[in-house]
Amino acid sequence: MKKGIKRRVVWSYLLLIIFCVALFETMILFALRLYYMEGMKQALRDQGTMFSSFYEQEIIDYRLKPDAVNLLNQYNFLVDAQVQLIDEKGHVLADTHHITEQNVSRYGDVETALLGTIGYLDTELEDERVLIVTQPLKRGSTVIGAIRFTTSLENVNDIHFQNALLLLSFGGIVILAAAIMSLFLANTITKPVSAITIAAEQMASGKLSTRIPKEKDDEIGKLADTLNYMAKKIEKNEQLKNEFIASVSHELRTPLTSIKGWAVTLHSMSEDVFFQDGLEIISNESDRLNGLLNELLDFSSLSSGRLPLVFDKVSLPALVKQVVQQLEPRGVRQGLKVTFQIDESVEEISADYNRLKQVLINLIDNALKFTPSGGLIAVHLVRDRKEAVITITDTGIGISEAELKLVKDKFYKGKSQAAGSGLGLAIVEEIIQAHHGLFSLASKEGRGTTAEIRLPVR
Ligand SMILES: Nc1ncnc2c1ncn2[C@@H]1O[C@H](COP(=O)(O)OP(=O)(O)O)[C@@H](O)[C@H]1O
Ligand SMILES: [Mg+2]
Repeated sequence: MKKGIKRRVVWSYLLLIIFCVALFETMILFALRLYYMEGMKQALRDQGTMFSSFYEQEIIDYRLKPDAVNLLNQYNFLVDAQVQLIDEKGHVLADTHHITEQNVSRYGDVETALLGTIGYLDTELEDERVLIVTQPLKRGSTVIGAIRFTTSLENVNDIHFQNALLLLSFGGIVILAAAIMSLFLANTITKPVSAITIAAEQMASGKLSTRIPKEKDDEIGKLADTLNYMAKKIEKNEQLKNEFIASVSHELRTPLTSIKGWAVTLHSMSEDVFFQDGLEIISNESDRLNGLLNELLDFSSLSSGRLPLVFDKVSLPALVKQVVQQLEPRGVRQGLKVTFQIDESVEEISADYNRLKQVLINLIDNALKFTPSGGLIAVHLVRDRKEAVITITDTGIGISEAELKLVKDKFYKGKSQAAGSGLGLAIVEEIIQAHHGLFSLASKEGRGTTAEIRLPVR
């Protein structure tokens, strides 16, 4: 897009300038040529007039024809030209140069002159551009002959060529300057536009705190203002949404605690199996709801970028062992084998103990949820160079290739009955990123899944 605008601006300016320069230069060259030609014609005409007035007496006395050669030789012409004296039939009587043609009546200039007015001819003679001016010589009102000047235009052409060269280089400089200016102008448009595009892309990818610096109070500046305003609004709405989720989850937790508490209390007091079963269901569902509320709370602080982390020294072997032992009974109930293999030498790292625990619970919970009975869940902790690597491998239903890209998204959950809120993996990713670690999932549909966490060890 940027290239598009730039190219359009530069080219439209440049084309306009090139057109104007070309038009202007041709006009100037044309005018100059006209001016030079007029000057030469004038000079030749003057010579003709002077000649005829100088020999007026001879012309009146009909002595032009017999004395032509003498007259021509005696007169001193002030122009560099071939001069010919011609009789009224167009025969050349005398010539300052060697006579090339005896009769020149066929030329247009001679025809015109013999009819009584000055004739001009601009033609090519023996590979040379020449200007011919022929002026009638009159006795009273009868034309008795003509004086014909032929002069080379090579000189004029030379001057013309030099002028053209000069104008061309001047035009080149103008076009170059215009090109630089239009490039500069295009940059003043495209630079801020691409800056805005980058900022807008950041906003679109979720970094709503991005603000576009406003450079000028023009249309682009206004666009920047509008986008900033929009981002601010969205940010505010996002904040409102998170606060709403947080407060609702929080409010729901208190009654849920009472429900759970009373279900447990009544369960212990009741003798009736039917009541006990019912109270157990209430108790279990309360647990589920509580888990969901916790996830929602985490999610709201996660979305607002306020996931509070409390860093402390954490021993990963102890943590992993604790979580596995905590969830093993559930695995056994589901008919699953849960094993672990831990490298005890992995050093303590600086981390948020509860958050890491939450991560492991989320991942092992997923493994338990999506593995049918008879399956195996293996948890490993090893040291790989500067990283501690925790892997949780299951032999469950796995994730299809298409879904694998989506499962880490917020609220994405699979079609399985066991799927929960779809927030678990999003929270895991966020927490691991806050620890400067890496979280990845590998899976084969129908074969099983491996979740891997890499945390830096100093
Ligand atoms: N170990 C696993 N085996 C198979 N599918 C999994 C596994 N872990 C995650 N998934 C898929 O990814 C989805 C998203 O997981 P998660 O974010 O933890 O949400 P939830 O557990 O609430 O459904 C799950 O609904 C499931 O479809
Ligand atoms: Mg989950």
